[in-house]
Amino acid sequence: MDRSGIFAGDDPFSIARAWLAEAEPVEPNDPNAIALATVDAAGMPNVRMVLLKDIEADAFVFYTNYGSKKGQEIAASGKAAFVLHWKSLRRQIRVRGVTEREEGPAADAYYASRSLKSRLGAWASRQSEPLDGRATLMAEVAKVTVQQGPNPARPPFWGGIRIRPVEIEFWADGAFRLHDRFRWTRDSVQADWTVTRLNP
Ligand SMILES: Cc1cc2nc3c(=O)[nH]c(=O)nc-3n(C[C@H](O)[C@H](O)[C@H](O)COP(=O)(O)O)c2cc1C
Repeated sequence: MDRSGIFAGDDPFSIARAWLAEAEPVEPNDPNAIALATVDAAGMPNVRMVLLKDIEADAFVFYTNYGSKKGQEIAASGKAAFVLHWKSLRRQIRVRGVTEREEGPAADAYYASRSLKSRLGAWASRQSEPLDGRATLMAEVAKVTVQQGPNPARPPFWGGIRIRPVEIEFWADGAFRLHDRFRWTRDSVQADWTVTRLNP
């Protein structure tokens, strides 16, 4: 199979890292923004943007509130999918996989790297729950600012979600809508990858 240029390589995570590195200088905002899809108990899909914070050797990681809608749906299904799309590069990467929490040192380190206001905001927000007004949220921020002090610990309800993919598709725009698509699949997260070129 002719898989040269931007699609070349034996490791899809390296290819994803290389594409993200190419997007960073040209995307105006958040080149690491992903549309993250989950399903609820009825199979109804849900999608929202989050920021991809790490591409590990065998997984993708983002951070969120575990009690949020997405957090609950991921806890129940153990699965998620996302797409990275760069308008500037005219490329996308699609990922489907199984999830696990990152609640260890990596989550602590990422939490600690955020601004104090963001760290306190994570404590103050009951993400995805109803809020009667902005003032209620600001009062909660004031409360946790006193409670947590200048060095808040990572909230137990906030941390990483690691997606271990069983499918990754690299897509690049081609002339006359004749795009290039390469799908990497494996039967389980332990299995070897199979790469298939797909029709556009
Ligand atoms: C560009 C962008 C980046 C975002 N990044 C995050 C993120 O990293 N983590 C997060 O929890 N929410 C993030 N959000 C907010 C989510 O889109 C969403 O509103 C929130 O997580 C609640 O989603 P849920 O109710 O489906 O759980 C981001 C929104 C945008 C537009």
